[in-house]
Amino acid sequence: THVVTEACIRCKYTDCVAVCPVECFHEGPNFLVIDPAACIDCGVCIPECPVEAIVDEKDLPPHQAEYLELNATLAVQWPVITQSREPLPDADDWADRQDKRALLSA
Ligand code: F3S
Repeated sequence: THVVTEACIRCKYTDCVAVCPVECFHEGPNFLVIDPAACIDCGVCIPECPVEAIVDEKDLPPHQAEYLELNATLAVQWPVITQSREPLPDADDWADRQDKRALLSA
């Protein structure tokens, strides 16, 4: 599966959603996740994300390991998003921030 990682938090640009052929993205208040049961590992979303938040699970950095399970867990709880929309209003201010994990709203 592919995994949305920390860089997405508080940004939610949603460019990824527009290219997904299987509608595997689910939307929370300030983060998107990929449903591992739906993802076909095509990888077309990877270059779409302006903050490079999406990785193949085999490329998941060790310090972001928890995002594998987070995507799976939150995908069940959150609704599907099938169309791109405006990013969060202050997305650009958060794009380069590190250590955003505590800011994830579930
Ligand atoms: Fe998030 Fe990047 Fe998609 S910021 S919403 S994973 S384009």
